[in-house]
Amino acid sequence: MPESNRIRLASRLSRVSPSKTFAVAALASELRARGVDVIDFGPGEPDFGTPLAIRVAAKRAIDAGYTRYTNVPGCDELRDAIVRKYADKYGLALTKRNVVAGTGGKQELFNVAFCILDPGDEVVIPAPYWVSFPDQVVLAGGEPVFVQTTIEDRFRPTAALIESGFSSRTRAVILNSPCNPSGAVVQEAELRKIVELCASRGALLIYDETYEFFVYDGQRHASVMSWFDEYPSSMVAIGSLSKSFAMTGWRLGYAVGHPDLIAAMSNLQSHSTSNPSSISQMAGVAALQGDPADVRTMYEAYVERRKWLVPALNEIPGLECAVPDGAFYVFPRVKSLFGKRGIRDSQDVATYLLEAAAVAVVPGSAFGQDDYVRLSYATSLESIKEGVRRMREAIEALG
Ligand SMILES: Cc1ncc(COP(=O)(O)O)c(C=O)c1O
Repeated sequence: MPESNRIRLASRLSRVSPSKTFAVAALASELRARGVDVIDFGPGEPDFGTPLAIRVAAKRAIDAGYTRYTNVPGCDELRDAIVRKYADKYGLALTKRNVVAGTGGKQELFNVAFCILDPGDEVVIPAPYWVSFPDQVVLAGGEPVFVQTTIEDRFRPTAALIESGFSSRTRAVILNSPCNPSGAVVQEAELRKIVELCASRGALLIYDETYEFFVYDGQRHASVMSWFDEYPSSMVAIGSLSKSFAMTGWRLGYAVGHPDLIAAMSNLQSHSTSNPSSISQMAGVAALQGDPADVRTMYEAYVERRKWLVPALNEIPGLECAVPDGAFYVFPRVKSLFGKRGIRDSQDVATYLLEAAAVAVVPGSAFGQDDYVRLSYATSLESIKEGVRRMREAIEALG
């Protein structure tokens, strides 16, 4: 191609790659288009529809003409609803100045990185991590520093592990609990230590609680916001309506934190997307104030699927699966398959399962741990059972 026909991209783009979770989804849909019946454990999105009351609120917003720009950080009703949520859960007396709503939790995470990182600043990220954390840090000019959690510890990060990633250039830590992909939940006492570590070392703890409602076995979701009054400049919480209320397509998330950080994020957002969709915001108010029974129904389905899935995976020779504390993912170790029929890594395992069993999983390399694959159980129990049967057959055929 002649040089004049090439697009010259900024060098920062050369350090990031498209989200690998979307890549597997694309491959699976390609197979489906060819008529293959694919069991898809790939998607990180609920298989439920958005609850009726939320959809009704959105339709009402349209009919009432609520279709114009709102304040950049979100309308008063939505931010008030978020303030109330944190008041009810953690006894906090926040104001709207502590809250910015945006086009998904993903955008707010991106905005935090852009607002706090200078070139060369380091961000400690426990692995396995959600795919976008490191790329967002890199796009913002920072350097991700990974610390590895282990299956033996059920992937739960500790303050000591996080501290081992600290240097004089550490500016932030990104913690995600419940974790995508491992399902690990940081325990309250440990979280307190991590908050204290960040506060004492001048690092911002970016706490992604996207999966906060999905915590199992009688455990409780712990939030950094429990200690916000003590350490307001050491933390920011990121929330999303995508998973809790099956609203992935509505694109609504938020950040809660120090007013100065929130003001900077709103400023940045005013030059990129402005406010999140006005209609989604009204739907979000209905979600946050709605009947908890809707979330409960989804929760119970995940409980049932997880109860069946984890032992079933552990029965497949060569797979090892820790019991995940939360979210809707399992992260089995598949290392024992390496070396069989030319399989070298988790990408090869995913490709083999897709080709031999028409089962889509996401390679662990996307999340910074190559010995594993991720399966989402946000799909029907019937599909889960069929998918595991096929996986078992394909893996046994490897010998
Ligand atoms: C850990 C985690 N954080 C944030 C997000 C972003 O969610 P959204 O942008 O849909 O609010 C996701 C979505 O998959 C996620 O898994």
